[in-house]
Amino acid sequence: MAPTPNQLLFAAALLLCAGCAAAVTRCPDCGTTQVPYPLSTGPNCGDQSYKIRCDAGSLKFDTLNNTYPITAITPETQRFVIQPSSFLPNACVTEDLTTLGIQMNGSLPFNITSSNTIMYLNCTTTLLNSPLNCSAASLCHSYVNGTGEAAACVGEPICCTFKAGGSTTSYMIRVRNSGCRAYRSFVNLDTQLPVNRWPRPGMEIQWVPPPEPLCGAQSACDSNSTCGSDPAGNGARRCYCNSGLRWDPVGGLCAQNVTCQDPDGCGKSTDRTALIAGLTAGLGTALVAAIIGISLYKRHRRIRQAQERLTREREEILNANGGGKSAKVFTGKEIKRATNNFSRDRLLGTGGYGEVYKAVLDDGTVVAVKCAKVGNTKSTEQVLNEVRILCQVNHRSLVRLLGCCVELEQPLLVYEYIDNGTLFERLNGPNRVYLSWNHRLRIAHSTAEGLAYLHFSAVPPIYHRDVKSSNILLDEKSNAKVSDFGLSRLAHTDLSHVSTCAQGTLGYLDPEYYRNYQLTDKSDVYSFGVVLLELLTSQKAIDFNREADDVNLAVYVQRVVEEERIMDVVDPALKEGASALELETMKAMGFLAVGCLEERRQNRPSMKEVAEEIDYIISVAATKEEVEK
Ligand SMILES: *[C@@H]1O[C@H](CO)[C@@H](O)[C@H](O)[C@H]1NC(C)=O
Ligand SMILES: *[C@@H]1O[C@H](CO)[C@@H](O)[C@H](O)[C@H]1NC(C)=O
Ligand SMILES: *[C@@H]1O[C@H](CO)[C@@H](O)[C@H](O)[C@H]1NC(C)=O
Ligand SMILES: *[C@@H]1O[C@H](CO)[C@@H](O)[C@H](O)[C@H]1NC(C)=O
Ligand SMILES: *[C@@H]1O[C@H](CO)[C@@H](O)[C@H](O)[C@H]1NC(C)=O
Ligand SMILES: *[C@@H]1O[C@H](CO)[C@@H](O)[C@H](O)[C@H]1NC(C)=O
Ligand SMILES: *[C@@H]1O[C@H](CO)[C@@H](O)[C@H](O)[C@H]1NC(C)=O
Ligand SMILES: *[C@@H]1O[C@H](CO)[C@@H](O)[C@H](O)[C@H]1NC(C)=O
Repeated sequence: MAPTPNQLLFAAALLLCAGCAAAVTRCPDCGTTQVPYPLSTGPNCGDQSYKIRCDAGSLKFDTLNNTYPITAITPETQRFVIQPSSFLPNACVTEDLTTLGIQMNGSLPFNITSSNTIMYLNCTTTLLNSPLNCSAASLCHSYVNGTGEAAACVGEPICCTFKAGGSTTSYMIRVRNSGCRAYRSFVNLDTQLPVNRWPRPGMEIQWVPPPEPLCGAQSACDSNSTCGSDPAGNGARRCYCNSGLRWDPVGGLCAQNVTCQDPDGCGKSTDRTALIAGLTAGLGTALVAAIIGISLYKRHRRIRQAQERLTREREEILNANGGGKSAKVFTGKEIKRATNNFSRDRLLGTGGYGEVYKAVLDDGTVVAVKCAKVGNTKSTEQVLNEVRILCQVNHRSLVRLLGCCVELEQPLLVYEYIDNGTLFERLNGPNRVYLSWNHRLRIAHSTAEGLAYLHFSAVPPIYHRDVKSSNILLDEKSNAKVSDFGLSRLAHTDLSHVSTCAQGTLGYLDPEYYRNYQLTDKSDVYSFGVVLLELLTSQKAIDFNREADDVNLAVYVQRVVEEERIMDVVDPALKEGASALELETMKAMGFLAVGCLEERRQNRPSMKEVAEEIDYIISVAATKEEVEK
């Protein structure tokens, strides 16, 4: 179930928290250079997902088409620097032009960091339409002018500058004949410096902190770790640290004191002890005692209040029981058993709302369990709110609530388990995969149907208020399920009173709601419009790696549409090989999205109309298949 906002990032982070570690083997030095874990130069050392090469005493990084020397490694920040391609003699063309520049495999745990400032040189005029800075003032002109190295580029009028690491450039810096023919990259460039004081060109690459090492059997793990199943449910087994120890992905071992990312989680006390120990070191004992006393008191009060509310809530749930949709009430024992007592290796994700665990019920059903943070009122409220909302809905495009548990210190929700991650991860996460246009249309359609159900079939209507790609879960058939109803509202209760603050997520928030706090179904329509843009462009809703004016995807696309260049923002991978008819359906989807983003709410379509329109677009796309057959 509900992997939520920041999941995949958290998936990496949670491993920091999870106990674990193992017999990891650091690779031998390459020449005089140390090879830190998890980088691997051979089949018997490092982590095999992190392959680099040791070639005659120097380290090399292989991209899809090329090989670049590694010039520096910083294990503490999981980064290394490669030396990119040089210019061909007397030409404003880099050596890797014929192999299309740096193209990395997006499935591997490496990406290009945003500390790289990239100069694109010898570009065609099409680049002038790009969001890159290709103006006469652009830094690349100073570079060309100020260095002998790029002397051949002096006569070339078009060059552009940008920071790498955006959604489109974290896996490639492409050069090609129909775009730019050369590039230079500088790490941590201070743009105030004159060109003659710039660092040597380099490109910094980051690796994702490694998970615990794989194991076939216990013998593959060291004495500090135990071979167990990967909570991701992928069948893998890993050496998880024994209790009291934590996986340190930098050292590649089970260590005693790696800071936990979420000291207030469901997993209880070891973290809190560490926190208190830390405090004690820094402050006078008396002061500490006072602080602990006060916070314990407050925490107890919060817990008591939450429990009282819970009891009421529980009665409500039991009483409601309308249409047999009501949730099962689980006992604390059942939940503890199912989550292996909230074992850290069951953690799927954590966020502001609390934590989500993978759990197996006594009858073998795999479920997701969401628990509020202990003593955190806001988180508790969101979880309770979600119970209230989800008990009233039942639609194939909405995540299904199976039950809840109110016996433990914090309220818990039990959902169906949906195993394929979120739409956000599929489009933009480290393990993103290419989603075909047909898939994307289907995802858009089922999401729209789920939301239309909330707006038009639920009684009273429900406004989700946090529609975004990271709240859209995908099952193994890429059916979409809307999740995370923590901020949702029942129409009648909230229409009458004006809430005092607009909640939601930056980049998806209806500007009108932001201005006057009046909540209607059209706020969800706006957010859904942003999701449609993500599907169309494969870009993030907010991306600071785009030009300043274009950080917000909705604003960026609206500008491009005004310039009548809507097709320019469509994900190039979708356009590649698409038929004329398919391109038409992409355009139609673009216009539909822009309609959802209309400034004035009354000009936006309703969710029902949106669902119908997508259905129509799908039927047009299907005609094409018929024709082709
Ligand atoms: C710019 O790129 C084109 C295409 O590869 C090439 O023919 C031309 O020589 C390059 N310009 C310079 C000054 O090298
Ligand atoms: C470079 O890699 C990409 C991606 O694998 C591939 O499509 C392309 O054909 C390669 N180009 C060359 C010249 O090898
Ligand atoms: C990218 O990496 C994945 C995972 O190692 C591998 O299965 C896939 O074949 C690679 N793709 C290419 C084009 O090399
Ligand atoms: C391009 O970069 C230059 C130099 O940093 C800056 O002065 C200029 O405002 C930028 N132009 C745009 C359109 O962002
Ligand atoms: C390049 O240098 C010349 C002389 O050194 C100068 O006149 C010109 O303004 C410079 N152009 C840019 C874009 O910096
Ligand atoms: C690159 O990987 C790092 C480490 O996992 C991650 O924090 C960062 O968000 C990634 N950047 C992009 C643009 O994917
Ligand atoms: C196990 O953990 C302890 C405490 O962190 C450490 O001193 C010891 O070296 C570890 N043993 C192994 C085999 O890593
Ligand atoms: C544990 O903490 C101490 C002091 O903060 C630090 O010097 C040491 O490197 C840490 N050990 C590990 C394995 O992180």
